[in-house]
Amino acid sequence: MKELPKVELHLHLEGAAPPAFIRGLAAEKKVDLSGIFDERGHYRYKGFGEFLKVYEAATSVLTSPEDYRRLTLAVLEESAANGVVYGETFLSPDFCGGRDVGAWREYLHAIREAAVEAERTMGITLRGIITCIRHFGPEKARETAVCAAETAGDWIVGFGIAGDESVLAPKDFLWSFDCAREAGLRITAHSGEWGAPDTIRDTLATLNPERLGHGVRSIEDLALVDELAERGTVLEVCPGSNVALGIYTDFRAHPINELDRRGVKVTISTDDPPFFHTTMAREYEELHRAFDWDEGQFRRIARQSLDAAFCDADTKARIAKKLEA
Ligand code: ADE
Ligand code: ZN
Repeated sequence: MKELPKVELHLHLEGAAPPAFIRGLAAEKKVDLSGIFDERGHYRYKGFGEFLKVYEAATSVLTSPEDYRRLTLAVLEESAANGVVYGETFLSPDFCGGRDVGAWREYLHAIREAAVEAERTMGITLRGIITCIRHFGPEKARETAVCAAETAGDWIVGFGIAGDESVLAPKDFLWSFDCAREAGLRITAHSGEWGAPDTIRDTLATLNPERLGHGVRSIEDLALVDELAERGTVLEVCPGSNVALGIYTDFRAHPINELDRRGVKVTISTDDPPFFHTTMAREYEELHRAFDWDEGQFRRIARQSLDAAFCDADTKARIAKKLEA
């Protein structure tokens, strides 16, 4: 499965940090992060609340543009080894310079430098989507949206929201999404990972995203599933993440196959791969095992993912050739 060319639309850059990479930075900076690792060196957490805390603790040692340059290279190396030819990554100015526009520009410059190097040496193309973090609140989201608007262009191509879906509401973030949209950014939003179908309806009605992060709980309301299919809303589905966080017991119980069968545009991503002990190749292998998905199905979904990418048409045409190879 590694060699099949893949497109990944839903990957949090910090969430993709290998634990050894974070441990190395912690040692360099003399920060004690031992509490967030288990005896095998993996990230240690139980449940989504702890996951978010460990994620933020790991991120606390990423304190300079140079750290992000190295992180981006490490992450892209892993993605390329899994056959990813095009990826979009979530970037949060919260963690990159505390939402100061000047500092954010420096972090972004370093991340892009790494992306250019990876494209040259590994043949993988990356674009960025700026995400605000729901549980940090609307005021910080507004500052994040300003960072996004100031750096929107051919590389920063989207705006979204991640974090704890159980707090606040889409309308609390409307100003930020309007600001990002006016700057030309395409819109995605985490919704329906934890939230019931009504929260997805609220997200669609309020923020009008083209794509939903997860969106899998739509399966509990088949009228909503039909609506997603009709609207052409794309789901950034991360099956291994949902299983690891206990939303579904295993891949066979995951709704991705049924959503696809009902005409919803599904895509496949890893979310925060080392946290969930996954890779793009493992997602493919598990989907093959659970639903007998074959090469034709994976190629169709990769093409569907590229169609839903936020990059420009020239980039898409270039990547399409790689998918056909
Ligand atoms: N941030 C990183 N991973 C996330 C997830 N699975 N859900 C919400 N926010 C996140
Ligand atoms: Zn996510």
